[in-house]
This record gives sequence, C-alpha cells and structure tokens, in this order.
Amino acid sequence: MQRNSISKKYQAIIDAMDEAVLLLNRKQRIVLCNKRASILLAWAEELPGADLKKIIASQELSKAVSLVFEGKEQERLTIAVYEGAAGDEAFIKGHGRERTFRMKISLIEEKLAAISISDITKIERLSLVRQDFVSNVSHELKTPLTAITGFAETLTDETLSLEEIKGFARIILKNSSHMQRIISDLLLLTSLDRAEISYSMTTTTDTRIFQEVRSYTQHKANAKETEVLYSSHDKTVTCNESLIVQAVANLVLNAIAYSAERSKVEVSSRVRNGMMEFSVSDEGVGISKEDIPRIFERFYRVDKARSRESGGTGLGLSIVRHIAIIHSGTIKVTSKPGEGSVFTLSIPLS
Ligand SMILES: Nc1ncnc2c1ncn2[C@@H]1O[C@H](COP(=O)(O)OP(=O)(O)O)[C@@H](O)[C@H]1O
Ligand SMILES: [Mg+2]
Repeated sequence: MQRNSISKKYQAIIDAMDEAVLLLNRKQRIVLCNKRASILLAWAEELPGADLKKIIASQELSKAVSLVFEGKEQERLTIAVYEGAAGDEAFIKGHGRERTFRMKISLIEEKLAAISISDITKIERLSLVRQDFVSNVSHELKTPLTAITGFAETLTDETLSLEEIKGFARIILKNSSHMQRIISDLLLLTSLDRAEISYSMTTTTDTRIFQEVRSYTQHKANAKETEVLYSSHDKTVTCNESLIVQAVANLVLNAIAYSAERSKVEVSSRVRNGMMEFSVSDEGVGISKEDIPRIFERFYRVDKARSRESGGTGLGLSIVRHIAIIHSGTIKVTSKPGEGSVFTLSIPLS
C-alpha cells in the first residue's frame, strides 16, 4: 500500500477516536494528529511536522516514547503540565493553568508510535474536592460526638446530683441535635445536587412564602428580641415553595444570628425584569470582601465559634445557592463589615 493511503487510513482511525491522539516517528516528530489533539494542546494546524518536545515539553514523556521505540510494549504515564512559554520544563501552550494529562504510548508500526492523551484535570480536581468534603464532614461530626461520649461517660458516675445529671443530659441533647442538623442539611444538599431529581413547581405568592418563613424563624427572632419586618406585594411566582421557604428562612436565620440582640432585620420582595427578588437585610457584623466569595462553600464560616453558638452547620448558604440554581436563579450579597449585609435571592417569575 502507498504511504499516502496508509496515512489516510490512520487519519480516519484517529479522527474516530474520543481521545486526543498523536502519531510519532522515531525522531519524536508528530506525523499525524486528530482534531481533539489540536484542540487539547491549543495548536491549530502546526502540529504535524512539529517536534514533540516543542508541543509537550516533558522529559518524562520523551523518555517513555523512546522506551516504546526500543521495544517496550506499552507505556502509561500521568504528568502535570503547566501552560507556559517554550523552553520551560513540563510546559504546554496556554495561559498559566496547571493541567493533568494521562497518556498511553504504544507502538503501532516499526517506525510509528501513538500517544493517546486524556485531560484529567477536572476529574482530579473533583476527587480532591470530594476528599476535602469527606474530611470536613468527619471533622464536623467528630466535635459534637466527642462531647456526647465524654459527658455520657461522666453520667455513669454514681455520686452525681440530680442537677448535675440534668446539666450533662442537656449538653448531650444539644450536641446530638447539632449532629442531627448537620446530617439533615447534608442529606438535603445531596438531594439538591442530584440532577435527575425534578422538583415540582407550583404557583404561590411572596406573601404566602413570607408567612411560612416567619413561622420557621420567629422563635429565634424572639429569643434575641430581633425585630423582623416583612413586606410583600401578593405577587404570584412559580417555584418549589418549600425549597424557597427554606432558602429565605436560612437567610433570615443568618441575619438574626450574625446581628446583635434587639436589632432589626428587613425581609422584602419585589418584581423586576421577570424575576422575583427576595431581600434580607440586617444591621449585623457584616462580611469582609475576602470572605464574601467563600461563604457559599460548604462548611465555610467566618467565625466558627459564633456559628456553632447560633446552631449553624456551615451549610446554610450552600443550600441557598443550590436552591437558587435549581430555580435558574441567583443569590447575591452586598455587605460592609460592622454595618450589615443584604442577601438577595432572585428567581424567574415562571
Ligand atoms: N447575614 C450575615 N451577616 C454576617 N455574616 C454572615 C451572614 N450570613 C452568613 N454569614 C457568614 O457566612 C457563614 C456561612 O453561613 P451559613 O452557610 O449559613 O453557615 P452557618 O450560619 O451555619 O455558619 C457564616 O458562618 C457567617 O460567617
Ligand atoms: Mg446559617
């Protein structure tokens, strides 16, 4: 068969593949590549003919390719590459991101090797996020559990007075309800995360939503003598009512928790550009510019002690953000440390 028709055949085969593929000659020059490879490596037409070292500058990779040409059946490797300037070690073309590539090198003819490349940057990051999450959850559950175990042990002491026993039982109760809150928030977050669950949407009004929010939150407001003012306009909105109630209630509970006693919280709604906006504003401690992007992360709190004191799990805003996303809506915050915060949840009217 003619050289030309062979390369046509190879081209057709690698074009049909899902992975990025490069074919190399013994000099480690690229002979053929598929479109995926041009896209992944950010080179348009210049790949065929180019030196592999110029495209992916990795000694590890060159060595692996040599081994394959010297008779090794196959080489697999995972390398971290940096987008940078030619001449740097482990660089590829681009703008400063770090990427992780998994590669397989195999000989397909005496003078021809194939490298298939998958970009596993995202998968790696997700698995890191997952590991972090598991370690966070364990840590969050461990703290109350340690208190429960400790005080339960103390309770076995037969010389305790009835008052002491009651006191320890109260601590155990407080810590176990904290664990229960963490677990039910986690279960809710997991179900909000599942794309396949579709939430039923019904028509309701801002006034109805606020009535429900009030019934969930008023005991906390009373305990801190917080004045919570609601203003709504009886406008209709289509949403999953119980989720929206939960989201707004989380914002109201935060406004109460992160404000001094006897302060004021305003809860209002308005319709703008086809969206219903629910705003909760407080005169509380506020949030610094650096913390604002982080408060929607799971378990992130600016002040851990204060959050725990108020019964927080560190998951409330993460839940609010998920509920906003499910409704194709947004959650925004403006805040000034020492002056207060305004959280605004917007969802489409229908
Ligand atoms: N209204 C608010 N004012 C000041 N800080 C807030 C407010 N709402 C939330 N925060 C900060 O964001 C963090 C995360 O909130 P959240 O996810 O509800 O967790 P939790 O309230 O359980 O700690 C809180 O710990 C707090 O530091
Ligand atoms: Mg909260």
